[in-house]
Amino acid sequence: MGSMFFTLMLLLATVVPGQSQGFHAGGVASCSGCHSMHSPQSGSQWQLLNSDSSSTCLNCHAGRGGVNSPSVFSPDGSALTPGGDFYWLTKSFSWLDGQSPGYDHGHNIVSVDFNLLSDPILTKAPGGNFPAARLSCVSCHDPHGQIGGGTSRGSPPVSRSGSYGAGSDIGASRGNYRLLGDTEYVTAGYSFRNGAPVARQSSVNKYGESDSSHVDYGAGMSEWCGNCHTAFLHNNHRTGGTSFQHPTGSNALFTPDTLNFYNSYLRSGDFTGLGATAYLQFVPFERGTINLQQLDPNSTQGPDATANVMCLSCHRAHASAFPNIGRWDFTANLLVDSHPATGDVGASGSDPYYSYYGRDIATDFGAGQGQFCEKCHGVTLP
Ligand code: HEC
Ligand code: HEC
Ligand code: HEC
Ligand code: HEC
Ligand code: HEC
Ligand code: HEC
Repeated sequence: MGSMFFTLMLLLATVVPGQSQGFHAGGVASCSGCHSMHSPQSGSQWQLLNSDSSSTCLNCHAGRGGVNSPSVFSPDGSALTPGGDFYWLTKSFSWLDGQSPGYDHGHNIVSVDFNLLSDPILTKAPGGNFPAARLSCVSCHDPHGQIGGGTSRGSPPVSRSGSYGAGSDIGASRGNYRLLGDTEYVTAGYSFRNGAPVARQSSVNKYGESDSSHVDYGAGMSEWCGNCHTAFLHNNHRTGGTSFQHPTGSNALFTPDTLNFYNSYLRSGDFTGLGATAYLQFVPFERGTINLQQLDPNSTQGPDATANVMCLSCHRAHASAFPNIGRWDFTANLLVDSHPATGDVGASGSDPYYSYYGRDIATDFGAGQGQFCEKCHGVTLP
């Protein structure tokens, strides 16, 4: 480790700690928030403050959730963030004739200090080669923000975090949406090929999600997931692991039928909705633009002909209460029968409530609500 370690200490010594806005502001965010400057005996590689990279992040990113709390690992499921709460990895549910194990609920990041272990079944990213044993926060997020700047398909570098689309920040300091790795990112010896996605979140409701305040996704998310799940992107979601086939990515454009359904669908059997208020947080889509100024986190407008399906139309990025990181329970014919349910072994009282981001399916959609695939297809397809 000799020369790398020396370089690190040299950098730590020359960077003046200072943070104007937020912790990850610009390239010179306070190094000492993550690296130890004064304890050369610290056990971890790179003199991190904790045993490993994820634990270092969770120092600040664990705790109760809230629209302005950056927690993504709550003690109770209350982190209702767009990416989702790693809490669900710790929750296994079972009932009379079924089960939903915790490891199936999310990306099993390894964090020794927070007792999070790698996936016991999957050894690699399905459809790719990224090793499950190496999965951590920095597998996806670049801890040093963006070195090169720039986003998917060559748009200019945007804002210190790239997440809020603030025009004044363009060019001032660089960063991708949510500090996600881009084509210059190498992690665990693995190089990303596809750029960071373009998306915009509300700078008021930074970590929350509702139909009227949500991440407005622009382009590149499926391609970005495809850095690790390559075959899912190129082979319409088919791999050895699943028989489910579905278009996703920039070419998976809405068709006239799917547009009509999305823009009129309110709940199973009810197509009296309007395009202007059609947006549903459980079924997001990409608007098909790399221009952040065309994205509006408070827009309730449904898709138009430039919009496309993406991985996050059906999945969350971190974790969810449901198998396969579903945004809803893919295994329930009627969503009121989703698990976790009250009475499941392993479920605490608030799990059903938080599983659908504080929304009650029966109240909001009715007891007859089917799979949210219907938002785009009208009916549940086989
Ligand atoms: C948000 C947390 C965080 C901050 C802030 C941070 N680092 Fe790091 N740094 C990490 C992590 C985590 C790793 C290990 C990366 C890995 O596991 O691949 C790392 C690794 C490194 C390395 C090893 C080479 C590499 O890039 O993998 C160097 C050098 C380094 N950091 C320097 C710095 C300097 C200098 C600063 C301040 C300008 C800084 N870091 C700020 C989290 C951080
Ligand atoms: C010393 C505390 C601290 C550490 C350590 C830390 N963060 Fe953060 N992080 C924050 C705070 C505070 C915010 C919220 C800043 C804001 O809302 O302006 C944040 C925000 C973020 C965001 C959202 C940025 C955006 O675009 O809105 C991401 C992603 C993130 N952190 C990832 C990480 C990762 C990955 C690590 C570990 C490598 C890490 N953080 C380590 C304090 C920390
Ligand atoms: C498999 C990739 C992946 C891993 C692993 C991952 N993230 Fe994320 N993270 C994302 C993506 C993608 C988003 C944006 C999600 C969205 O907007 O729908 C995100 C969003 C976030 C946000 C913004 C709030 C939210 O949830 O939307 C924070 C903070 C964050 N991540 C921190 C972390 C920390 C800390 C870890 C490790 C404990 C981590 N992430 C692990 C991909 C990942
Ligand atoms: C850095 C590599 C990496 C990236 C990027 C990545 N994943 Fe993964 N993903 C993995 C690995 C490794 C596994 C298997 C281990 C696990 O499930 O924890 C996995 C598993 C999954 C699973 C199965 C979870 C389960 O247990 O059933 C889904 C679904 C998934 N990823 C979706 C996504 C989506 C959606 C994105 C983009 C937002 C994404 N992944 C980005 C590495 C990645
Ligand atoms: C239209 C909805 C939809 C879209 C879009 C979608 N998925 Fe899936 N995904 C599913 C469903 C449903 C399952 C469960 C399939 C099954 O059980 O056979 C699943 C399962 C998975 C699994 C688990 C496979 C395993 O072997 O355990 C991974 C990984 C995954 N998806 C990744 C992705 C990635 C990456 C993308 C984008 C490139 C994506 N998905 C886009 C609905 C979707
Ligand atoms: C965000 C909108 C959206 C969601 C959500 C969605 N689909 Fe689709 N689906 C599409 C579009 C767009 C196409 C491609 C155009 C078409 O075939 O109508 C498609 C195509 C399909 C096809 C034909 C696939 C092929 O390769 O021929 C099937 C089957 C399908 N979807 C099933 C599902 C199922 C099951 C779900 C829920 C797990 C689902 N879809 C969720 C938009 C969506």
